[in-house]
Amino acid sequence: MHKALFKKIAFVLLATPALWLGWQMYHWFSFLPHELTANPQKFITQYTGLWAIRILIVTLCLSPLSWAGWRSALSYRRMAGLYAAFYAMLHLLNYFILDYGLDMAVITKDILKRPAISIGAIAAVIMMILSITSTQAMMWRLGRLWRRLHRMIYGLAILVPVHGFLMVKGDRMELSLYGMILAGLLLMRLWRFCAGRYRLMGNRP
Ligand code: HEM
Repeated sequence: MHKALFKKIAFVLLATPALWLGWQMYHWFSFLPHELTANPQKFITQYTGLWAIRILIVTLCLSPLSWAGWRSALSYRRMAGLYAAFYAMLHLLNYFILDYGLDMAVITKDILKRPAISIGAIAAVIMMILSITSTQAMMWRLGRLWRRLHRMIYGLAILVPVHGFLMVKGDRMELSLYGMILAGLLLMRLWRFCAGRYRLMGNRP
């Protein structure tokens, strides 16, 4: 009962930044006062990119929380991961439609020419693969491959902050902090993996 309620609350909380953005965009398109600054396209790219990385951090925090004793933490993993992908998709849509008016020739050239954008594109493809294969049915169908495939999230934890860091021109303070948190989350996993191996070797006859 509580779990279902908490899940609904988490769902609404994670949707709130998108709802706020939708509301502001409605004002922008209706020529009403809005909070998207004088350069709404740039604001939206930054806003959606930042929410994608924040929710990616939340997703990667769930396993350590489950090791620490919050057993149901893992049941939020899929929802959080899909929300991170959702914000990344809004980020891409903004770039594809509002920035470049779906001019695929220019977009392809930009992706191939600028390494920072290429890194973002690789991250976007990984996010898409993880989202499509996140269902229970895919989990059954792919078996052991599913686990291996979903380890690509660790690649995301490296690619996304590098992409953001290279793209931002001004203050990189917030992104540096996110990069450090993601590095810490990866190190925790590495430490746990090594500790598990060490224990296994110690128990061998
Ligand atoms: C084809 C794929 C991608 C493209 C073309 C792209 C494009 C951009 C652009 C143009 C910016 C610069 C915004 C600005 O300061 O004006 C940016 C920043 C950023 N992007 Fe991407 N991006 C892509 C993929 C991704 C993905 C998959 C994520 C996250 C999951 C992401 C997260 C970020 C972050 C965190 C920033 C920095 C935001 C800030 O602090 O200003 N991007 N991206």
